[in-house]
Amino acid sequence: MTGPAPVSVRSPASPLPDDLAASLAALQARAYAAIGLRAWSAAELAALAAMPTGRLWIAEGGDRAVRGFLLGSFVAGEGEILALAVDPAHRRRKTAHRLLETMIAEARLETVERLILEVASTNGAAIGVYRMLNFHDIGTRPNYYRIGTGRIDARLMEKRLI
Ligand SMILES: CC(C)(COP(=O)(O)OP(=O)(O)OC[C@H]1O[C@@H](n2cnc3c(N)ncnc32)[C@H](O)[C@@H]1OP(=O)(O)O)[C@@H](O)C(=O)NCCC(=O)NCCS
Repeated sequence: MTGPAPVSVRSPASPLPDDLAASLAALQARAYAAIGLRAWSAAELAALAAMPTGRLWIAEGGDRAVRGFLLGSFVAGEGEILALAVDPAHRRRKTAHRLLETMIAEARLETVERLILEVASTNGAAIGVYRMLNFHDIGTRPNYYRIGTGRIDARLMEKRLI
């Protein structure tokens, strides 16, 4: 028996083509629905990716369909994960892992010293992925996310690269 076909990870051309921005926004909406967070619009994603500090990686299946993406920024020696989303129909196949490994490798090439991110304290799946890649907790932002009518804390996590 063979496993799922591996994804390939690439950074798309900038500015982001409209159809790709739309499919990333739709994917983020599907991915974020279950965790109750607002996904960004295609225009917001394209604007963030087009900033000089913006970095975008997309993971595609063998059929070239987008399975997930990671939007980040590299600025002044610090990298930040702004959004990470994997299509709910293609989870637990190491797509997030591959996206993060690519970001980490490119961050090292750009002499980024540390990567940081905020994640909802209730988001066990994402925390599991980040832990697997040796991110660790460095703080808490109380009541950071609005989810439904309530608020939940964010964990601030870091991975040092040097
Ligand atoms: C978090 C997310 C990106 C993970 O994507 P993924 O491609 O399924 O993750 P991977 O296959 O790379 O997972 C690697 C490891 O993370 C952990 N993990 C992933 N999903 C998990 C889950 N639902 N429960 C527990 N651990 C989980 C496991 O250790 C997993 O390894 P394993 O499958 O061998 O057990 C995906 O669930 C998602 O898009 N969630 C909604 C959006 C989100 O939370 N983004 C992060 C915001 S900070």
